[in-house]
Amino acid sequence: MRIFVTGASGWIGSAVVAELLAGDHEVLGLARSDASAEAVAAAGAEVRRGDIGDLELLRAAAAESDGVVHLAFRHDIAFAGDFETAVAADRAAIETLGEALAGTDRPLAIASGVAGLKPGTLATERDTAEPFPGPGGRILNERTALALADRGVRSISVRFAPTVHGDGDNGFIAMVVAADQQAGSAAYIGDGLNRWPSVHRSDAARLVRLGIEGAPAGSVLHAVGEEGVAIRDVAEAIGRGLDLPVTSITAEQGEAQFGFLARFLALDMPVSSAITRKLLSWEPSGPGLVADLKQGHYFSAAAA
Ligand SMILES: NC(=O)c1ccc[n+]([C@@H]2O[C@H](COP(=O)([O-])OP(=O)(O)OC[C@H]3O[C@@H](n4cnc5c(N)ncnc54)[C@H](OP(=O)(O)O)[C@@H]3O)[C@@H](O)[C@H]2O)c1
Repeated sequence: MRIFVTGASGWIGSAVVAELLAGDHEVLGLARSDASAEAVAAAGAEVRRGDIGDLELLRAAAAESDGVVHLAFRHDIAFAGDFETAVAADRAAIETLGEALAGTDRPLAIASGVAGLKPGTLATERDTAEPFPGPGGRILNERTALALADRGVRSISVRFAPTVHGDGDNGFIAMVVAADQQAGSAAYIGDGLNRWPSVHRSDAARLVRLGIEGAPAGSVLHAVGEEGVAIRDVAEAIGRGLDLPVTSITAEQGEAQFGFLARFLALDMPVSSAITRKLLSWEPSGPGLVADLKQGHYFSAAAA
């Protein structure tokens, strides 16, 4: 298949591009800058220059493809505090890609998350969350995407664990490592027994390929390798890696140390991927989060 990938230069997207190409697919990758275009071309994909705000470009690229993986997200503005604009841009992109594929039964896989699904209880693919302020607006975007199944689109929501970890990660765990280093302590909020699901980047990328190849219309996939890793265990691994004391802090201190991330770090959100594994015979095989932290690459990046 020829697959249009938005976010092709990103952390997950670059692994998805490699996975699709290794699976004998062709990739048309969206790139908004020279550097991203070079990276996408070097990976072996065809480059389409443009921004996700250019809806005509998205429509045309989707129409000339056999399927779409939509991973671009305006993290630059979202992480600076303007989640609403980033979420709205994501929704416009999903609607446009969906219109372009309507009536074709071609796959459209979009990125989603697991926050808010079923706090404190093991959530499954059948659970849905209610929108909440900020990033929680993406829950409506998932609904928009899944509803495209009724319009002849093989729509798929890939709910990524909040940490898609691995060597080169610049996401949440890398942010926590940097914040801990700056504060001089590897901190967790409260008793730190709250859990985060995790997935290794290689497993996440393989799941996206399997979804594009075979997930039925309206599928929710959980890119989750480990159901729940206690945040205290993560802090202890970071403390060892950076040679810092490991400390419990209050939610207020958490805001000071981790900024917007503090709210997420306090969540208990164990998540199952049993339905996904069975549906697509997906078996995660990459290292777990703590084992990955023990490999040391998060700390050499922090020291650089
Ligand atoms: N990483 C995780 O742990 C995680 C967890 C849950 C959900 N997700 C979601 O999964 C998706 C992929 O995440 P990621 O970690 O791979 O993110 P990332 O590394 O920040 O990559 C984001 C991608 O989007 C592109 N992009 C950003 N703004 C754009 C714009 N205005 N026009 C065109 N392209 C634009 C970036 O291009 P440049 O290379 O040019 O910047 C990059 O290719 C996102 O939707 C993210 O929210 C990720």
